[in-house]
Amino acid sequence: MNKSEKNTLKNEKHYDKVYNKINIQSILNIIENLKDFMADATQTDTSWVGLYQGDFQNQLKNKKVLELGCGDCTNAAVMAAFGAEVYANDISQKSGEIIKKLNANYKFQSEIKFIEGDFLKSEITNDFYDIVIGKAFVHHLTNEQEIEFTEKIVSILKPNGVVRYFEPAVNNVFLDNLRWLTPVPGRPSKIQSKKFKKWKINDPHPERDNSSKHYEEIGNKYFEKTKIVPIGSIERFHRVLPKKYSRKFRRFAFRLEKKLPHSLNLSITRSHLIEYKHPKKL
Ligand SMILES: C[S@@+](CC[C@H](N)C(=O)[O-])C[C@H]1O[C@@H](n2cnc3c(N)ncnc32)[C@H](O)[C@@H]1O
Repeated sequence: MNKSEKNTLKNEKHYDKVYNKINIQSILNIIENLKDFMADATQTDTSWVGLYQGDFQNQLKNKKVLELGCGDCTNAAVMAAFGAEVYANDISQKSGEIIKKLNANYKFQSEIKFIEGDFLKSEITNDFYDIVIGKAFVHHLTNEQEIEFTEKIVSILKPNGVVRYFEPAVNNVFLDNLRWLTPVPGRPSKIQSKKFKKWKINDPHPERDNSSKHYEEIGNKYFEKTKIVPIGSIERFHRVLPKKYSRKFRRFAFRLEKKLPHSLNLSITRSHLIEYKHPKKL
């Protein structure tokens, strides 16, 4: 088994366990109170702030959207509730079970369709999708897998299609080292080397390049336009504050970091929105 196959298996095993515990009622609560949820999440919760930058929610109606690595399917459900025709794929079959329950319990304009199994092997018509989404997904692929996914995405996107990824960014070695030294729930500090090694065995994140420069290079090779928006250069420090101040600080930080010069913002950012437009068709 090669490195990429091992990585996929590790992800499948890890996320089958995680999504086994998902209660769809919390997702139904979100889409039944969509306006309130979006008003809060897109100002406070990093991945929602990132993915929904630039009024993305109003670009979804009647679009054919493919979400890769749909996970617990919250975002797939949100996009479908905004009127998109959503196709969702995940290596974990549990995502398919969640989608079945969501479709049975909510009247979407268009039911969410689950694309089962390995996306690279699935048969999808060329020039089919308007938008491809990955929310905290690509950094779970090896760099080799990312190339294979990108080449397939280029062929299944419409000529004016768009890719939108929200991903963690590693642009600053010092801050990244600091992050690994700080323990977080479920992950020990790198200083606790024995515990860290044990944790790493089951970690579903492969060693890969997560820099904005890396995504820019992929974008320049496969698409006509690439845009990287840094998210979280100041917000990343919310972890050093007591939890009760966290949401307030994050909202303030997201507003403040927009005022920083782009190059500074990019060099210290914790995550980024990556947008590729107009695939270079062969
Ligand atoms: C960090 S989770 C993000 C889930 C979801 N997008 C979210 O925002 O909560 C990463 C997801 O990628 C999925 N994944 C990893 N490798 C994959 C692959 N080769 N094909 C499809 N999905 C994959 C995992 O099963 C997992 O659901």
